[in-house]
Amino acid sequence: MIKFILNQNEVTAHVNSNVTLLDFIRYHQHLTGTKIGCREGDCGACTILVGSLMPGHRLTNGDAILEYRSATSCLMPIGNARGKHIVTIEGINFNDRLNPIQKAMSDEGATQCGFCTPGFVMSLAGYCLSDNEMSEKNALACIDGNICRCTGYKSIERAAMKINSLLKEKEGKSAVAFVTSKNILPDYFSTIAKRLQDLKSDLSEMIADPKKVYLGGGTDLYVQKHDAMHYADVELLFDKSALNGIIQQDNVCTMGGAVTVTDLINSPIIQKYFPDFEKHSKLVSSTPIRNMATLAGNFVNASPIGDFTVFFLALNAHLHLSNGTKKRMVPLRDFYKGYKVIDKQVDEYIETISFELPDSQSHFNFEKVCKRTHLDIATVNTAAHFKSEGEFIASASISAGGVGPVPMFLPKTSACLSEKKISADQIQQAIEMAQTEISPISDARGSESYKRLLLSQLIKAHVVEMFDIKLHNLLK
Ligand code: FES
Ligand code: FES
Repeated sequence: MIKFILNQNEVTAHVNSNVTLLDFIRYHQHLTGTKIGCREGDCGACTILVGSLMPGHRLTNGDAILEYRSATSCLMPIGNARGKHIVTIEGINFNDRLNPIQKAMSDEGATQCGFCTPGFVMSLAGYCLSDNEMSEKNALACIDGNICRCTGYKSIERAAMKINSLLKEKEGKSAVAFVTSKNILPDYFSTIAKRLQDLKSDLSEMIADPKKVYLGGGTDLYVQKHDAMHYADVELLFDKSALNGIIQQDNVCTMGGAVTVTDLINSPIIQKYFPDFEKHSKLVSSTPIRNMATLAGNFVNASPIGDFTVFFLALNAHLHLSNGTKKRMVPLRDFYKGYKVIDKQVDEYIETISFELPDSQSHFNFEKVCKRTHLDIATVNTAAHFKSEGEFIASASISAGGVGPVPMFLPKTSACLSEKKISADQIQQAIEMAQTEISPISDARGSESYKRLLLSQLIKAHVVEMFDIKLHNLLK
């Protein structure tokens, strides 16, 4: 039994936890406004909103705080909806008129066949309900996971700008109170926080069971193993409290395995120590996927081009594994044993991830090249973490993905740059060393020689970005 609020109504779903929310919404609840496009998290036609109570956070008047995030329902296991508010396009309708988001889309000619429109409207509704700074940039960013094949994006952008202008006075106010008072979304939204508190949610404690498939956000498993997931007996990890939260103790940051990319973006710790983190993460995926995808999922997926795996390899992160009783620690750099082979027993899950935070001498950079600039799988990605005094590099850590069967830390390349002064010769030596450490293959994303060239260029890009050195000074 999975209890949650679907639009205005409390529902109890008598289905397995692994059923996708999309199938439940369309085939059990007959809410067909949510569309099926790709079923891979790519098109955004199935976008819905997920409202969750934020534990430990209250408004000044004592009310619980609800946070809404967009999600692609085609990849979301219904078990992750437990105790939450799920909003579909039907849940933001006014009975007698279009709401201002729908009206802006209509007035600007931002819809033709209409198949993508519910997804765009839901993403924009999520923007209205978010606590993000209201800006043209953020209004456009919220629809980065939606694709339209017939209208053309300019009219959709104009609609987004119109909606942004409706939110001018929202800054500093409770999002839910603002959008209901301005009749942007229906009144019932203001009752949801209280109703969720009263809803007895039944999140169980972790029970390690090797017969079960551990499931986090589902953004990779439901794409790679769609049919297998249909029959899988799953243990849901997404909402376990032990697997959530980002904390700092002295100079060590510890993150729960179920922390999402959006949690990282919103974390004051990450913002303080990685000012460019949001810029880096925009290269990784769309907003709804970042809202669902977990860090531990990225690591255990063991993709040779896992973006955050490469990111945390350079930072020398450590994984803290547990099977419910026994715990052990594995450096991320030792976690990958071969293509899709990891140092994890079948009953183990990643409970937390820890790493040393950068200090005043640290420089960090992440680079990624793919066929589309944004929202694509990398051809080659790489991260670099240097500690330096002026132009003297005390230590260097460079990682790379897409250049071997596993995401790689490059120890010899890193050593080549450590305890050296930055110079064109030194960079060239490191590039040549990197070529001896990698073994890319030609595939759909690029030829072997192209990938080799990319890594060479991206090593230069690291130095240019981190030390503000002009590229021509690195060319020989
Ligand atoms: Fe395309 Fe879900 S159906 S993102
Ligand atoms: Fe047809 Fe967008 S209006 S796909």
